[in-house]
Amino acid sequence: MSDYMAIHTPVLMQEVMGFFNKHPGKSKFIDGTAGEGGHTKLLLETFPTSKVLMIDRDKAILDIALTRLSNYGSRIRGVNSNFSEISQMEVSSFFENEYVHGILLDLGISTYHIDESGRGFAIKNDEILDMRLDNHEDISAYNVVNFYNKEKLNRIFKEFGEENWSKKIVEMILEYRKKAKIATTKQLSTIVEKTIPRKFWPIKIHPATRIFQAIRIEVNKELEHIENGLGKLLQFLDLGGIMCVISFHSLEDRIVKNFMKSYLKNEDYQILTKKPILPSESEIHKNRASRSAKLRVIQRIG
Ligand SMILES: C[S@@+](CC[C@H](N)C(=O)[O-])C[C@H]1O[C@@H](n2cnc3c(N)ncnc32)[C@H](O)[C@@H]1O
Repeated sequence: MSDYMAIHTPVLMQEVMGFFNKHPGKSKFIDGTAGEGGHTKLLLETFPTSKVLMIDRDKAILDIALTRLSNYGSRIRGVNSNFSEISQMEVSSFFENEYVHGILLDLGISTYHIDESGRGFAIKNDEILDMRLDNHEDISAYNVVNFYNKEKLNRIFKEFGEENWSKKIVEMILEYRKKAKIATTKQLSTIVEKTIPRKFWPIKIHPATRIFQAIRIEVNKELEHIENGLGKLLQFLDLGGIMCVISFHSLEDRIVKNFMKSYLKNEDYQILTKKPILPSESEIHKNRASRSAKLRVIQRIG
């Protein structure tokens, strides 16, 4: 195994393994958001006969995971794809036409993206505004910030950032754009800092956090892919198979919750989490990034 030290700390590990442990098979898993492979590694270790199909839309991080876990040989396979677009063929060929026992989605971005990728996810570093998870996508954060019109910017800041100062921030962005392009994270965060009066800055997060979140969601069409991906992945579940979904903000969680709710009257499925499972105090203490995680779980029973 490579001695690469993962940057990202996986969340709710024991809780997720506890749910997967309910399936008698426990040998075929899809990790739809593999990242550096933290959850995949634990799956491989916890269930020694298991195989994991690792999906990530970011080739760079998937390559890291595959190198890191190369010791597991044919027990893993990586697919550089969006989980919402994963082909039936990829899944069938790895699992020899059989259904899977567990599917995990650990949504959002990895600490790797913020600390290491240099793609403009981090407010604290001065980086080029990009924010694409998949660098084949056409639209980057630069395009959004410099070319979206007033209405479009306002809508995404409000909808995806839930930012009360959105109108003012958009005005300031448009003002700046008359003189120059906004090319870096520093330029963008400075605009936001100057727009929101200090006494209204949020206490625990940087004042530009919501704006960065909104742009990231827009660039990567994150919510659309969750909407489209959940139902698609569910089709691969074996009888008794379990899908665990971890979300990190209310917009994601709402989609996951409504998706699972839509199966309430379907006798072929049961929801295993009436309320979402949250990280324990001690997990939050060890890993602050876990504080907003919510786990929801559905099982195929018919
Ligand atoms: C929170 S991280 C996963 C961390 C991983 N569970 C671990 O333990 O290392 C989320 C990962 O999902 C990927 N991702 C996000 N949306 C995706 C999508 N729609 N399809 C495929 N991968 C996606 C991101 O590139 C990122 O690497």
